[in-house]
Amino acid sequence: MSVAALIVAAGRGSRAGQGIPKQYQPLLGQTVLARTLAAFVAHPRIDRTIVVIHPDDRALYDATLASLPAATSAVLPCVHGGDTRQDSVRSGLEALAELGPEIVLIHDAARPFASADLIDRAIAAAKEWVAAVPGIPVTDTIKVIDDRSRVLSTPDRASLRAVQTPQAFRFPNLLDAHRRAAAARLHAFTDDGALAEWAGLPVHVFEGDSGNIKLTHPADFAEAERRMKGETMTYVTRLGTGFDVHAFGDGDHVWLGGVSVPHDRGVVAHSDGDVILHALTDAVLGALADGDIGTHFPPSDPQWRGASSDRFLAHAVGLVRERGGIVDHLDATLLCERPKLGPHREAMRNRIAEIAGLRLDQVSLKATTTERLGFTGRSEGIAAQAAATIRLPEVSA
Ligand code: CTP
Ligand code: MG
Repeated sequence: MSVAALIVAAGRGSRAGQGIPKQYQPLLGQTVLARTLAAFVAHPRIDRTIVVIHPDDRALYDATLASLPAATSAVLPCVHGGDTRQDSVRSGLEALAELGPEIVLIHDAARPFASADLIDRAIAAAKEWVAAVPGIPVTDTIKVIDDRSRVLSTPDRASLRAVQTPQAFRFPNLLDAHRRAAAARLHAFTDDGALAEWAGLPVHVFEGDSGNIKLTHPADFAEAERRMKGETMTYVTRLGTGFDVHAFGDGDHVWLGGVSVPHDRGVVAHSDGDVILHALTDAVLGALADGDIGTHFPPSDPQWRGASSDRFLAHAVGLVRERGGIVDHLDATLLCERPKLGPHREAMRNRIAEIAGLRLDQVSLKATTTERLGFTGRSEGIAAQAAATIRLPEVSA
């Protein structure tokens, strides 16, 4: 189905203040409209995009269009809007009528955070239904009041949705609804969903996106820039290593990689003696340059006696996340003659991935004997070495 996007940018942005209309205000050097437009122009399912502007903004619009890096051939010549948003939408629809798209998405220029997923959902909703609007559950309790601020009722929050754009429609139906509304001298519908309802079209709500905010007041611009800085966060990659040894002692199992492995020996240890988890924990702490397992869990502290080592690794990974970082990869090598790693490898990888909150492909486990040499070769003890790759947000000077 052919899909057109119609972006309304003819408002004056009176609530946002600050001189030029809000859709032409810069956000980290790029105008709000440039960002909004780029999301639609770059979307593979959108065939054509049209922008409705205010006649006074021609130079600002041309500069915004010129600033777009992507191919802008899919952007149709802009058209002029009207006094109300509804009039602006109709002006865009009339300009699209010749082209005759099957689906049209109507979007506010003032919403620069429409994601590709949200646009996909809008298109899918228009295919399924005639008219559909993105909505998010409301978190505040809403009151209906009269003109003297007296509460008339409190609607059930579960049945309320806060509605956004892009709103999605079968093009011929929306064009007809707009023409009828104008003919009835109605001009003040603030969204196309409401106009469609008035026209008797069934309107559905699909899942919106809480990040898809509309810039309305001056404070919204600072919030938008903070959000964008988060998106463009740069990271530095850090590598840490770890090593751990435990002596074999009496027992019938050893803990390795968070899994209990049957063996004819146990290990002598303060905690559960899991050399793989200990080496991994030290590797993560090493990447953070934040001490070692003994600094965080002193062996002198009785609370770690017999402690299950998954807490150590979970703690280290938690420290990475607290600093806004990401764990990319954990890799460990077990050094011993026995027990053999092979039969338990997948169980251990799964357990480590679970403890660290990673995907399985981010966890690697290997094993080697030491050719009967040294303490591991003589089966006096068991050792593991590990590496962790993490990313931490770059701290600007
Ligand atoms: N809009 C439009 N034509 C109008 C009024 C609004 O194209 N006559 C557009 C705005 O440019 C905006 C969207 O509709 O992208 C949503 O409207 P709103 O957030 O109310 O923007 P403004 O009307 O510009 O702001 P304000 O109401 O504060 O003046
Ligand atoms: Mg307005």
